[in-house]
Amino acid sequence: MAISDISHRKRFLAGDNVYLPHIAVIEKIIEETPGILTFHFNFKDEKLKKEFTFESGQFGEYSVFGIGEATFCISSSPTRLDHLEFAVQKVGRVTNALHRLSVGAEIGFRGPFGNSFPLDFLKGKSLVFVAGGIGLAPLRSLIWNAIDNRDKYENIDIVYGARSPGDLCFKYDLDAWGQDKTVKMTTTIDKEAESWTGKVGFVPQVLEQAAPSARDAVAIVCGPPVMIRFTFPVLEKLGFTPEQMITTLEKRMKCGIGKCGRCNIGDIYVCRDGPVFSYAQIKGFFSSEY
Ligand code: FES
Repeated sequence: MAISDISHRKRFLAGDNVYLPHIAVIEKIIEETPGILTFHFNFKDEKLKKEFTFESGQFGEYSVFGIGEATFCISSSPTRLDHLEFAVQKVGRVTNALHRLSVGAEIGFRGPFGNSFPLDFLKGKSLVFVAGGIGLAPLRSLIWNAIDNRDKYENIDIVYGARSPGDLCFKYDLDAWGQDKTVKMTTTIDKEAESWTGKVGFVPQVLEQAAPSARDAVAIVCGPPVMIRFTFPVLEKLGFTPEQMITTLEKRMKCGIGKCGRCNIGDIYVCRDGPVFSYAQIKGFFSSEY
C-alpha cells in the first residue's frame, strides 16, 4: 500500500458544528525557547475530555477569544490522552496573544482536522525522523506513538537540529529518546557553540553522515522549508524513493476544512488533502511553491 492510497481521515467531534470552538483550559506552559511555548490543555467538558481522540499528524484551530484563531498541529501523542499539547512560535497577533496566556486561561479548539501519518503503511518498517527547530512538534506525536507501540516498528532513527543549543525544542524528549536504547538519536546545531559537545552541522549533512538504511524504511521529515528542500535529495542519495518520504506541511490555514481556499499549493489544499503528504505527491510543485 502506498501513502497516497490512504483515505482522508477527518474525525470531527460527534454532533459537531465544525465552526464552533470547544472550550479548553491551559493546564501547563513550557518555555521551549525564548520564542516558543508548549501548551498542555484539556477540554472543560468532562464528556469531551473522556471521548476526544485524534491521530498523529492531525491539527486543530486554536482561538484566543476576542483576538482570533490560528492553526497548530497536536504535538502530543494519541497514546497519551490525559492531556493534549500544541507548540506555538511567537510570530503574529494570535501567537503573541497565546504567549500572554497563563495556566488556567480558556482557549477555543476546533478539530481534529486533516489527515494523519499513515500508521498502516509504517507498520513493520524502520522509521527515520528528520526534523529542524519547531518542526519536531508534529513528528514528536508520531515518535511517542511509535515508542509506545515499539514492537510494531523496526529501527527508529531521529536526526534533529536547530541553529544553536538554545533553539533546540523539546529538550526533555531529546533526553528521553537519547536514553532509549531502542532509538538512535542524533542532535545537531548549525554552528559551534560554547559548552556544546554534540554534533555540529546542518540537518541534511548530518543525516547524510548518519546514513540510515533505506531498506524497508520510511523517512518522516518536518522543519523549515529550506531544510526540507535539502533533505529530500540526501534521502534520495541514501536510496529512499519519493514514496518512502513523508512530510507534513503548514500553510496559512484558516478554516481548516477546505472552504476558504487560503491554504492551496498548486492543485492541493493543505487542510483538506493533507497536511501529511508523501514526497511523491508534492514533488512537482514543492521546490517552487513551498
Ligand atoms: S484552510 Fe481553508 S481551505 Fe484550507
